[in-house]
Amino acid sequence: MQATQIRTTGFHDGTTDDIFETTHTPLADLKEGEVKLRTDWISIDPAMRGWTTNKRSYMPPVQPGDVMRCFGVAEVLESRADKFTQGDWVTGFMGVQDFGVVGAKMLRKVDLNLAEAKDYLAGLGMTGFTGYFGMTDIGQPQAGETVVVSAASGAVGSIAAQIAKLAGARVIGIAGGPEKCGYLLETLKLDGVIDYKNEAIPAALKRECPKGIDVYFDNVGGDTLDAVMGRMNYQGRIVVCGSVSQYGDFANATGPANFMTVVTHSLKIQGFTMKDYMHRVPEAFSYLLKAKRTGDIIFREHVVTGLDNFQSALKMIFTGQNHGKLLLKVKK
Ligand SMILES: NC(=O)c1ccc[n+]([C@@H]2O[C@H](COP(=O)([O-])OP(=O)(O)OC[C@H]3O[C@@H](n4cnc5c(N)ncnc54)[C@H](OP(=O)(O)O)[C@@H]3O)[C@@H](O)[C@H]2O)c1
Repeated sequence: MQATQIRTTGFHDGTTDDIFETTHTPLADLKEGEVKLRTDWISIDPAMRGWTTNKRSYMPPVQPGDVMRCFGVAEVLESRADKFTQGDWVTGFMGVQDFGVVGAKMLRKVDLNLAEAKDYLAGLGMTGFTGYFGMTDIGQPQAGETVVVSAASGAVGSIAAQIAKLAGARVIGIAGGPEKCGYLLETLKLDGVIDYKNEAIPAALKRECPKGIDVYFDNVGGDTLDAVMGRMNYQGRIVVCGSVSQYGDFANATGPANFMTVVTHSLKIQGFTMKDYMHRVPEAFSYLLKAKRTGDIIFREHVVTGLDNFQSALKMIFTGQNHGKLLLKVKK
């Protein structure tokens, strides 16, 4: 069987995202502990830039010439692993490819009676779990507190913001452009918004957070983190989920000038990855499934179709063209 794959041609070095090529190769024979997959959905993630950058991180970089790493949802066509049989649906790390042979250890089964396949990459997958654990475990918003979320209309940010609202906090979202800010106010019912592409963040934070900020859920880093740090309240919490504004050029990333507020205001800053929480996935899944069914949390997805659009889809993340969780449907 012939498979179509997206492979890297080199490392991301901050100058170009054009480091992918399409190849067609016969599938390898199945070994013990492996499954043959037909990929249905691929998650397009900001982390993909990190995975293709040759620097120390939470997992090794994808080597030039390898099939690009992704989270996906796929159907098992053939199995030589005890925990899966033909016809099962699975999610986990797999390659950007239509068919592939993958080690079963990287995968877990999904139930298509509970949710659609794509949901397991969006609100009911790593994206939702990240918003859930980051906000509930680290941010710990209390009723009446002021919570600020950056990239708030995006996949993780929108879930984190809605969880803070459900906790009774006053939630301010930062996003780029009127459409995204309108979505945050009108659909997600946040208490205030800052359109960072059209207004200065420090002045807007003063307007939207007159009593200061108790929790900041940081998805972007850079100048936004710096401005928020300048308005954090005593014993505030900063959840460092990501730093998407800094992923373009890791070599020239800069730190926040207001860092001393960590000392002067006794702040707590904590980063995390989903690796820290894998043992608690069932808890997050049942919370998010219930919230989806009751309508307490709204999930928004943005679908691009076809493996040949992988590279352009990835660029959308860094120009803010995605409106919600960005997903690639493999077959047109
Ligand atoms: N810690 C973890 O385990 C974990 C897991 C998943 C994701 N994350 C992190 O969570 C963050 C959000 O990821 P996501 O998957 O939910 O993506 P997303 O928010 O759906 O999409 C990324 C958004 O980031 C914003 N953005 C892009 N470049 C920016 C820049 N230079 N400055 C400010 N904003 C910029 C854009 O929104 P605007 O149009 O509003 O600018 C874009 O739509 C990322 O930092 C990601 O790395 C962390």
